[in-house]
Amino acid sequence: MRFQDRFIPFSSLRYSTQAFIDFCLPECSPKKNYALIGPGVSQSLDQPVNLREAHGFQVGGVSMGPGKVNPPHLHFTCEVFICTKGTWQIMWGFNPEIKTIEIGAGDIVAIPTWIYRGFKNLGNEDGFMFTALGRDDTGGILWGPDTIDAAKRHGVYLTKAHRIIDTRQGVKLPLDADLFEPMTRSEIAGLRDWSVEQMQERCIAFEKLHWTAEGLLDSRLPNCGSAIAPVIGYGMCEKRDHLPRPMNPIGLSMEWIKVPPGGGISRHRIASKQVLIVFRGSLSLRLDEGEHEEYRLSGTDDGWDVFSIPANTWRELRASAEGELVVLSLLASDDRKFIDWDQSTVTEAAAMGLIRDADGYIAHRRFVGRA
Ligand SMILES: [Fe+2]
Repeated sequence: MRFQDRFIPFSSLRYSTQAFIDFCLPECSPKKNYALIGPGVSQSLDQPVNLREAHGFQVGGVSMGPGKVNPPHLHFTCEVFICTKGTWQIMWGFNPEIKTIEIGAGDIVAIPTWIYRGFKNLGNEDGFMFTALGRDDTGGILWGPDTIDAAKRHGVYLTKAHRIIDTRQGVKLPLDADLFEPMTRSEIAGLRDWSVEQMQERCIAFEKLHWTAEGLLDSRLPNCGSAIAPVIGYGMCEKRDHLPRPMNPIGLSMEWIKVPPGGGISRHRIASKQVLIVFRGSLSLRLDEGEHEEYRLSGTDDGWDVFSIPANTWRELRASAEGELVVLSLLASDDRKFIDWDQSTVTEAAAMGLIRDADGYIAHRRFVGRA
């Protein structure tokens, strides 16, 4: 696959407003559902997908107008909300009481599997959230009984095979239609209960990130200067006390990376695919596999460009001179990914006294390499 097919400018996104059964409910519609990497959990055959290639996780997006609600549903793999615009109420539980937290731009929350969750746009304009879903096959979703009943009242049905039958369009409901059976209220009441405090532990607010300016071997080198903050999993950080919040395995790693104006991350590669979402600023991404190609990505208040870098591809990141760059890095699985730095960076860092210890973490050369 060509590099250019892995560049997903925000302006290239296409959405479906009929991805899910709630499209027929006025309080939930219109909802724009995006599938950037993988088809996600969309139940529409017409769902546009930017990049279908398996990554071990999937990236989608959702945009809704003020007051619109995404009703309760359950996932079998992780669902991580990455808010880039607006204020959203995240709701969960429904067993029977609803619990809520609020998130805003830059905040990320990892919803546990096997609970009913929903969200509402609390702002006064369209908001946007990226969603990361665990694994290449999510196993689909379960809608709650109230949503299924409300859709039926509108003449819209969901089959066990997750097909939507809209009788308002003249389609007849087959007599032998094998309809989806939602969980009963008592089954929902029997699901694990997560308190507000426990959900807050899974919410990584942008304003409370723990940045380290020593996260990568090249961080202190001239014209570099990146800082890194853990969100979920261990990711690519090379600082040994970089600790994400303790959580059950999520299935992916996320880290925020901040680069000063004109700074960058020097040439390196990682043995797994990496997805970058530019939150703020302008990124020049140089990829080389024999010949080099350069892509410019940006993040503003209204759009956030995405790129999927193939495994083992040499890359260099640089922020524009005009402003700070803030990027979210997504890597499959919770565990650590080791960075293969260009030899020139290894040499330059060593000259400053920095090398990596036997565990792959940055250390002063005076203390390692004695054996
Ligand atoms: Fe969801």
